[in-house]
Amino acid sequence: MTALLHLTELSVTYPRQAEPALDAVSLDIAPGEKLAIIGESGSGKSTLALALAGLLPRGARLSGNITWPSLGRSARAGADFGMVFQDPGASLNPVLRIGEQVAEAAQRHLGLDWEKAGILALELLGRVRIPDPELAMRAYPHQFSGGQRQRIAIAAAIAARPRLLIADEATSALDVLVQAEIVALFRDLCAADGMALILITHDIALAASLADRIAVMHQARLVELAPALQLVETPQADYTRHLLGTHIDLTDTPRIGRTVP
Ligand SMILES: Nc1ncnc2c1ncn2[C@@H]1O[C@H](COP(=O)(O)OP(=O)(O)OP(=O)(O)O)[C@@H](O)[C@H]1O
Ligand SMILES: [Mg+2]
Repeated sequence: MTALLHLTELSVTYPRQAEPALDAVSLDIAPGEKLAIIGESGSGKSTLALALAGLLPRGARLSGNITWPSLGRSARAGADFGMVFQDPGASLNPVLRIGEQVAEAAQRHLGLDWEKAGILALELLGRVRIPDPELAMRAYPHQFSGGQRQRIAIAAAIAARPRLLIADEATSALDVLVQAEIVALFRDLCAADGMALILITHDIALAASLADRIAVMHQARLVELAPALQLVETPQADYTRHLLGTHIDLTDTPRIGRTVP
């Protein structure tokens, strides 16, 4: 099958850093595939997501290749892929009504007029299971819980029916039950639309339960990539075995200092 996304030897070095934050990572994602990326803090997971979304900070050096074979062209942010982050507040404007924000995403990427965009926004809020979407359209972000805000951010991210959703620690700040609901939502959205998912997480159990394949990052490198069950049951790389064997809490591991004095 033609890959949706193809990364070849992707490397990133941030300004004033001696070591790359991403070191020659190559991988493919198939259309509709759910890929989890795990690894300790500072291993380069977000850097990978930002690089493929074209969101690296100014001055970061990128080498290697990112292609979208099944699109046959480069991908457009928002239209071909969407992103959600740990803090949904960061992607929602506190002074704009929810309806306007989701409709704006639909309008910008699909070129719909305001009325059609509003109808789509209402439908999207229903799809992400916001209770009473009609009422929600007129409410502001602070009137929702963290989990609901994340659903709203997801609604905006999927407005243009992207081929890929990149979720960087999108459930980490939520309590366990709400986390499980968002994960179920990801699963449903992927199944219904054939959307692919890159799920960046510290939670190996979550990765194993949701993803088709799991990629393990360690010190800027991709150390193992395998079908989820296979990776958990018969890990090949020493680092993956260490990760699974010690059950270390990845959120507690220290960041790797790379700053040049
Ligand atoms: N804007 C930046 N400028 C300089 N260095 C950066 C920048 N962003 C990240 N880094 C460094 O790049 C490395 C990889 O960081 P990255 O954020 O990709 O890790 P991560 O795996 O997403 O970590 P976490 O699990 O904590 O989110 C780290 O050493 C980090 O300190
Ligand atoms: Mg990160």
